[in-house]
Amino acid sequence: MATILDPIKLGPYELKNRVFLAPMTRNRANQAAEIQPITAEYYRQRATAGLIITEATQISQQGQGYPFTPGIYTDAHVAAWKQVTDAVHAAGSRIFLQLWHVGRVSHSSFQPGNALPVAPSAIGIPGQLYTYGGQKDYETPRALETNEIPGIIEQFVHGAKQALAAGFDGVEVHGANGYLLDQFLRDGSNKRTDNYGGSLENRARLLLEVTEAVIKVWGKERVGVRLSPANRFNGMSDSNPLETGRYVAEQLGKLGIAYLHVIDPASAEHMMGNPDSTNLSATYRPAFGSNGVYIINGGYDHTSGNAALAEGRADAVAYGIPFLANPDLPARFAASAELNAPDFNTFYQGGEKGYTDYPVLKAAVSA
Ligand code: PHB
Repeated sequence: MATILDPIKLGPYELKNRVFLAPMTRNRANQAAEIQPITAEYYRQRATAGLIITEATQISQQGQGYPFTPGIYTDAHVAAWKQVTDAVHAAGSRIFLQLWHVGRVSHSSFQPGNALPVAPSAIGIPGQLYTYGGQKDYETPRALETNEIPGIIEQFVHGAKQALAAGFDGVEVHGANGYLLDQFLRDGSNKRTDNYGGSLENRARLLLEVTEAVIKVWGKERVGVRLSPANRFNGMSDSNPLETGRYVAEQLGKLGIAYLHVIDPASAEHMMGNPDSTNLSATYRPAFGSNGVYIINGGYDHTSGNAALAEGRADAVAYGIPFLANPDLPARFAASAELNAPDFNTFYQGGEKGYTDYPVLKAAVSA
């Protein structure tokens, strides 16, 4: 019976363990969305993971919704990310870039020409967001016209090609957490009456078309998708999350992608409360099938990660906060060592502090 410290094959890659780094926004890029040299050091330190999935990375300026998140749409973005992929490869791991369009989770001040953020429907999120000009109310987004959809797919294709140029090993399509593709998927945010709204088949269409288009760039063996059909982060809801996720998992299984990555159970409580999601994988995993790797994420530790593998709920576990605070997480699991405590104050700010300065275990002194 495999444990999370055992190797696994994912697409063409032999990964050294099943302890993956979950994508985490860290807001250390500059205002031009270029990642900085400390980010190469941050990921290099975490090359202890069998697979690194990067923080969400916008595929266009329209796709941005937070200050200091990175992009992959300019040549300067590619050059900056190349430092990361080189560092991670030299340290012996594999790294997939997460392709991100935030949709309505944005503000006109981030948008080209200060236009309104775009979404499937003109339905805003309650509350406020951080912008470069401080905290602002969310605006009501503009519903995309049907003839703009190919342009959205093209943004993902561009991001995928840029990721190839930056030396990544693959890409993860961000279909989770209330961002654009998830906004189309779930019926709380999608009230469209064209081919991209209404029935579940229609709501899933954009995510599946994007995935197919990205496969054309990368090949199915190097493409993963992340889903969270049940969480409520970013004002999301769906009338039948179990069936929504089941259908998408089944369709993605048919596309033969390298992995499906599901937030299950509720991830980081500070942002994604979700009482309904504790056993999504019992439905999604069989629907996805067994050709690709099934990754779960959300509040797992060493013991519960191994239990998920033993019970057939997943093939690998993505760790977020524990990996953020413990660059040597697999070694700590192997040694049953104590974990560093995360510093929540430096999650989204702080330069090197709380980023590249978490200590590793002292190497055992050999006689
Ligand atoms: C965030 O920046 O808060 C964020 C980004 C991507 C996610 C979730 C949260 O998937």
